[in-house]
Amino acid sequence: MSQQQWTAVDDYITGILIGADPVLDAAQAAADAAGLPQIAVSAPQGRQLQILAETLGARRILEVGTLGGYSAIWMARALPADGRLITLEIDPRHAEVARRNLHHAGFAAIAEVRLGPAADSLRQLADDGAEPFDLVFVDADKASNPLYFAWALRLTRPGSLIVVDNTVRDGAVADAASADPSVVGVRRLHEAVAAEPRVSATTVQTVGAKGYDGFTLIRVRS
Ligand code: SAH
Ligand code: DHB
Ligand code: MG
Repeated sequence: MSQQQWTAVDDYITGILIGADPVLDAAQAAADAAGLPQIAVSAPQGRQLQILAETLGARRILEVGTLGGYSAIWMARALPADGRLITLEIDPRHAEVARRNLHHAGFAAIAEVRLGPAADSLRQLADDGAEPFDLVFVDADKASNPLYFAWALRLTRPGSLIVVDNTVRDGAVADAASADPSVVGVRRLHEAVAAEPRVSATTVQTVGAKGYDGFTLIRVRS
């Protein structure tokens, strides 16, 4: 099995189940033109986020790690007209591209990009007494995953879903000896989730255009 094959299958899935998507293609092109790293979720993963949000009946979505707004557009598509998506980004260039992309996608009224370190923006949301979010998508600096999980728990309610991207990392998540801060971050995340009686969770391994990785689904139960 090879990366070439995983990419071919993602191309097949995208072609047959997702099809042409000029809005997302334009958003991706704008991100590429601005020189943003090509680390957005794939189209099949984006559709998965949309389906999860729709299944939850989500009205409020929080994202940690915006990049150019690609995953944000997928999730915003699940929201009702009076829904709300708040996405947190530390890099002003990324935030600017994302704002433009969300605007062009028609979500200027419901989507907001908050600039700054996510840890600060999350504290601010809690201090402001933000209404609970139905879905939180964590996809920023992996070393901070345990911290983002703790804030996500505070900012959700029983029944909410927390999704964390990139939690397998080429299988390195199973390497207890790894000194890579991202790997340590996803291992600490698993330990924190395991120790938290208010949630049940699983991690699903994936292959695809973005390589061998995975995501963690955390259901808030109480
Ligand atoms: N969710 C996006 C991809 C996010 S890539 C998508 O799939 O389309 C990760 C993003 O997290 C990058 O834009 C990076 O600048 C941002 N990031 C990294 N550290 C951060 C921090 N401490 N606070 C907020 N954002 C951060
Ligand atoms: C990286 C970050 C991501 O969010 C991702 O989906 C893939 C790669 C990275 O930092 O390399
Ligand atoms: Mg990611």
